[in-house]
Amino acid sequence: MPACPSARTAAPSILHANVTVGPDGHLLFAGADTVELAKRYGTPLMLLDEGRVRERCRTYREAMADHLPEGSLPLYASKALSFREIYRIVEDEGLGVDVVSPGEIATAASAGFPLERAFFHGNNKTDADIRYAMDEGVGTFVVDNLEELRAVEAEAARRGRTQRILLRITPGIDPHTHVKITTGTVDSKFGSAIETGAALAIAREAIAQPHIELCGFHCHVGSQIASAEPFLEAARIMVAFAAEVKDALGFETRELNLGGGFGVRYTEADPEVNIAANIRELGACLADACAEAGLRPPQVFLEPGRSIVADAGMTLYTVGSVKEIPGFRNYVSIDGGMTDNPRYTLYQSEYTVVLANRADEPAEFACTVGGRCCESGDLIGEGLAIARPWRGDLLAVLVTGAYNYSMASNYNRICRPPIVIIRDGEARLGVRRETFDDLLACDC
Ligand code: LLP
Repeated sequence: MPACPSARTAAPSILHANVTVGPDGHLLFAGADTVELAKRYGTPLMLLDEGRVRERCRTYREAMADHLPEGSLPLYASKALSFREIYRIVEDEGLGVDVVSPGEIATAASAGFPLERAFFHGNNKTDADIRYAMDEGVGTFVVDNLEELRAVEAEAARRGRTQRILLRITPGIDPHTHVKITTGTVDSKFGSAIETGAALAIAREAIAQPHIELCGFHCHVGSQIASAEPFLEAARIMVAFAAEVKDALGFETRELNLGGGFGVRYTEADPEVNIAANIRELGACLADACAEAGLRPPQVFLEPGRSIVADAGMTLYTVGSVKEIPGFRNYVSIDGGMTDNPRYTLYQSEYTVVLANRADEPAEFACTVGGRCCESGDLIGEGLAIARPWRGDLLAVLVTGAYNYSMASNYNRICRPPIVIIRDGEARLGVRRETFDDLLACDC
C-alpha cells in the first residue's frame, strides 16, 4: 500500500500513505500541513503519527492472536523511541514492552506503564540496575549471561522472592543486515551460544536456582530484516534447542521470545514488508517444528521496535546554505543533522527527502544533505534529489520515527528537537524542545 500522492505530486515518490501533498503544494503528514506545523513549533521538528503507531500495534497484536499460541504478545522495543507518551499509547493498545536500561524503566514507570508486562534486556545489567528493576516490579528479566544469572538470583534471594526470567540464547544466524545491527551470530556480545555449549550450561544453572523461575528462552537475530526467513530459521533452531533442554534437563519451555527486527521502507528501493503474512508463516513453522520435536507449542513474544514507529515519524528542517561546487556536488545544509539523526553517519542508512513547502515541484536538484555540526561526516544522505531549495525552505526527511530521537545527542551543544504528536489532524507536544537551561542542567 504505498503512497497515494495527489495528482499534483512530482517526484520524489512519497513512500507511505500518511505522506501526501496538499493543493497548495505543501507536504501533509497524517493529514496535517507540515508548513503550518513548522511555523507553529519551529525546526528541527520531529512529528509522530499516533494513528499509524496504533495501527502497527494492532497489526502485530491481531496477527499474533490469530496465528500463534494463546497468550502470545508483541512487546514494543522502546529503544526505538522512548518518551512518556509512547508507553501510554502502546499500553492502551495492549502491548508489553522491552526495556534495556534503568532510564527506559523510569520513563515507562513515570508513564504509568504496568511494569509486570516489561521485559528487561541488556548484556551488562549492573547490580544497581538489577535492584532498581526489582524495586520497580519489572516482570521478566532476559538474562544474558552466567554472572548476571547469579546476580539476579542473589538479589531475589535477598528479597525473599522469585524472579521470572528468560535466557538470552545466541542461535548462530546471520540475517544479512548491517553488521552493526546483527546480533544473533556466535561472535556476539549478546547471549549464550548454542554452538559452544554455553546455552545448555546456563539453562542447567538457571533451573537449579531457588529464586529464579525460568520460563523459557529469548533470541534476537538482527534489525531491519525484510523477509520472514531469518525468523523461521531462528524459530526452528530455538525449538530444537528447547527439545535438547527437555531431554537433557527435563525442563519444558513455556515461553519463546524471538526478538524484533522486521524492516520498514525507507526508500522506494526497499521492499514492502507484510508483517501479518510473516507472522502467519512463523506460526505455521513453529507448529510444525514443535510437533516434530514433541514439544507443547510455547507462548510466543516478538519485540518490534522499528516497525511500530519508523514510518509514523517525519523530521522537518529549515534549509540554510545551498552550496553548488561545480564538478563535485551540491551541499544543502539544514538546521539539524547527526545530532537528531545519526543513522547515515553510523550505518549509511538511506532516507527519502522532500522539499515540504514545494512538494509539488519536480525533484531535479541532486544534492548531499548536510547537518550543522562541525564534522564532515555529519550528513543525512548523499545522491538525493529534491526541488531546487533556497535558504528558508522546509526539508522533510521521511521515516524517522525509529532510532532517531532515541539516538539523538547534544554534540556541539545542540539542543534536541521537540516531538509533536498528530492525532486525527490535531497536533500536541509529546516532548518539548530542549533549551540552553536543559543543556546546562548538569553542569556544576
Ligand atoms: N529486541 C532486541 C533484543 C533488540 O536488540 C532489538 C534491537 C529489538 C528487539 C528491536 O528491533 P527492531 O524491531 O527495532 O528492528 N540503532 C540501530 C538499530 C539497533 C537495534 C538494536 N536492537 C538502527 O538505527 O538501525
